Amino acid sequence: MTDTSIIVNAQRIIGQVNRRLFGSFVEHLGRSVYDGIYEPMHPTADEDGFRTDVIELVRELGVSAIRYPGGNFVSGFKWEDSVGPREQRPARLNLAWHSTESNEVGLHEFSRWLEKIDSELMLAINLGTRGVAEALELLEYTNIDSGTHLADQRAVNGRPQSFNVRMWCLGNEMDGPWQLGHRSADDYGKLASQTAKALRQLDPDLELVICGSSSAQMPTFGEWERVVLTHAFEDVDFISCHAYYEEKNNDLKSFLASAVNMDHFIDSVISTIDNVRATLGGTKTINISFDEWNVWYLQRFNAVDKITGAQNWPHAPRILEDVYTVADAVVVGSLLISLLKHADRVTSASLAQLVNVIAPIMTEPGGAAWRQTIYFPFALTSRLAIGTALDVDVRSPTYETMDYGSVPQVDAVATHDTASGKVSIFLVNRSSTESRDVAIDVSTFGAVSILETHTLNADDPYLANTLAQPEKVKPQRNNSVSIGVGIVTVTLPPISWTAISLGTTA
Ligand code: AHR
Repeated sequence: MTDTSIIVNAQRIIGQVNRRLFGSFVEHLGRSVYDGIYEPMHPTADEDGFRTDVIELVRELGVSAIRYPGGNFVSGFKWEDSVGPREQRPARLNLAWHSTESNEVGLHEFSRWLEKIDSELMLAINLGTRGVAEALELLEYTNIDSGTHLADQRAVNGRPQSFNVRMWCLGNEMDGPWQLGHRSADDYGKLASQTAKALRQLDPDLELVICGSSSAQMPTFGEWERVVLTHAFEDVDFISCHAYYEEKNNDLKSFLASAVNMDHFIDSVISTIDNVRATLGGTKTINISFDEWNVWYLQRFNAVDKITGAQNWPHAPRILEDVYTVADAVVVGSLLISLLKHADRVTSASLAQLVNVIAPIMTEPGGAAWRQTIYFPFALTSRLAIGTALDVDVRSPTYETMDYGSVPQVDAVATHDTASGKVSIFLVNRSSTESRDVAIDVSTFGAVSILETHTLNADDPYLANTLAQPEKVKPQRNNSVSIGVGIVTVTLPPISWTAISLGTTA
């Protein structure tokens, strides 16, 4: 007997799954760059000092565009420090993370690394301590082929062809009081509009992201989006959303329902975008770049990791190195379901971050690199979610949460790739005590076959992969999956994330 039903209908298309949904984020923060992607003395380092074991893991993870170089870091960053002969690059204070930035890895080196992992650069500009002039100079340096001072300087610095960066973030979290150069919505909206107009004078086809709120819990959330978009509606293509989730006060039930908050966040921002469009009489569609999302134990960071002291500015400190559990991975899998459920308007997203810093990949200097639990739902969704996202009808028992009230135990989304005929279904069971037996109606696809099944769960939801035990948690084949007439059935264990890939002839 099944207790949960899902209908997957080929006609209920949400939108095309944009590859940029599977982006990530590398910030000059902690050991993300140094001792993370870059470690020249590591036994696996290549001729450019990049760890090839990390490159292999990043490629397997399947990340598309990577946001760089911050984050809070970018709001105090001078891009000129990070180009030119390495021995002449200045060491600077990284005020955002109270550490020292050596500038050993900069724009050229990072772009070289992106070529190795086959990803696109999504560049953030400093609108905290800098403004329109410096943004224009950076764009000239990156995107003009030749014949100007900065384009020629790039060639002298070893890169004759332009970087041709398409996607640009107009600052970072400018609504946050912690941000260098934090502004009111009015002031930032004007600055973002002026910067966007100036950048478009140089390259009209850029894709520009204006800063939305740092979280849906910000006191200015909603009004911030309305004001900045009113200033810059015609100038930008995306507005950003950022969201981090953590288990607070031992309330695992609410934590497992974090995607309810993400769904609501996205729906609210879409409403605001479209309301501003109606008010302005506009016609264009502005989409969402969810360019920071993940589980992050921020309370732990504030209590334990935070660096202080006027003379204490370590290089590549071990900060924000969260160790992720099975429950964290289930939440990450459910957040991916939320992003796919909004694939028509969320067309870019960045898992924050990639290596060592709140990351799916961890490294030890001179030693191993390994996959954290959250690596698996991301890698599998990135590989299997192709074609169009389909809105599925889920009928599931509910459970009570402190933060979100009554929440369905099971959530799901599907994708359909007409070229290959593949249908993938992603499911989460948020119940901490009960398995769910699910009947999935796939009759609109005709005859189906099972190609792959993966379930991530464990008897102990706090199990994690560590340096000592890097392979303790892995997804397993789900042997409960079976096919009846037009129906696929599956058992979802408590606190689990599952992906099912089906072959069809439709
Ligand atoms: O990803 C870590 C930090 O979180 C980023 O630097 C900032 O943008 C956000 O607050």
